[in-house]
Amino acid sequence: MENKTVYLNGHYLPLSEAKVSVLDRGFLFGDGIYEVMPSYSGHLFHFQDHIQRLENSLAGIRLDNPHTREQWQEILSPLLDRSIDQYIYLQITRGVASKRDHAFPDGIPPTVFAMCSKMVPFAGLNQGVKAISMDDTRWGFCNIKAITLLGNILHRQAAVDQGCAEALLVKDGYLIEGAASNVFAVIDGVLCTPPKSNDILPGITRDVILELARKNDITYREEKIPFAALENASEIWVTSSTREIIAVVELDSKPVSDGKPGPVWKTMNQIFQVYKQSLIMSEQTFFEFPCEFPVKAMGKADIELDVLVLEIVRRHAPDVKADAVKTRLSKDGNFIAITVIIEATSKKQLDAIYQDLTDHPDVKMAL
Ligand code: PDD
Repeated sequence: MENKTVYLNGHYLPLSEAKVSVLDRGFLFGDGIYEVMPSYSGHLFHFQDHIQRLENSLAGIRLDNPHTREQWQEILSPLLDRSIDQYIYLQITRGVASKRDHAFPDGIPPTVFAMCSKMVPFAGLNQGVKAISMDDTRWGFCNIKAITLLGNILHRQAAVDQGCAEALLVKDGYLIEGAASNVFAVIDGVLCTPPKSNDILPGITRDVILELARKNDITYREEKIPFAALENASEIWVTSSTREIIAVVELDSKPVSDGKPGPVWKTMNQIFQVYKQSLIMSEQTFFEFPCEFPVKAMGKADIELDVLVLEIVRRHAPDVKADAVKTRLSKDGNFIAITVIIEATSKKQLDAIYQDLTDHPDVKMAL
């Protein structure tokens, strides 16, 4: 077992020394909640959204939040490693009571535990995965990220037993989510995902995908999906913080479309990867100015994006020459990436360029 440093109740200690009492209500009742948040090169991905969901989960089980957002960030920071991608597992239980009693104990502190694990790219990313469908047998508060995961575990194991990566859960004839993921389908050319409700976990990856779809003119709908409609789905995906976006290429032993990850998945996965990089870049402050800096922007290939990007960059870096612009077309020819090398004078200047680029409706991505 890797003896990494973990956080437990105010202390950083080796994993092998992190111990919790058998009277902990997490151990006895599964009475607690958790979060899983990615960290790319030491940058926590959508930290505020994850903490908001943590706060909602705590409220959902009537447990006070022991820390402010700033304190959470301070607690997690020492666990992060800038040289790799990781995911943080953060768990809060109702603490250690003196006796086993279903009702809440009075006046005991919660147990707070956090650890980081290396994020390894999902092996089946480019081939896609197989899935089965199952009736959803979980409880009525699936919107709470509760540590009580027996329902999810039994569903996932049933899938694994059949050589599949995920179980897609169905309730009253409608597609809900995966055992540990949200679900998307492309039906009649429209990207669809079930709406938020107590039946699903409001996935952060799900929300990011919808936001990226909106920004990139990919038509989408949040609506209930009858399970039978999957017969006509050209693509099905499952999404989560640890696996990102994975195409389901076979459902219940039948191929989805041609049994390969589809074009909408390819586009969205590409957009998602660029977006991750853009967040890392926008948080970096270690440049020494002046320095040569590549400003990058992406958009649809059918407009004169190079002219537009140069015009925006020149608002803040007037000396940039036209030959500092490079263009690259995406493999499918739908997108174009523009790079403009500038002599950057300050972070403020770069932020202003980035702001103007992202504000322009024709710029789908800037970094
Ligand atoms: N699970 N739905 C369920 C039931 C999940 O368990 C998860 C993620 C998601 C996706 O949420 P997000 O995009 O915020 O990761 C949806 C995590 C990864 C886990 O339990 O390990």
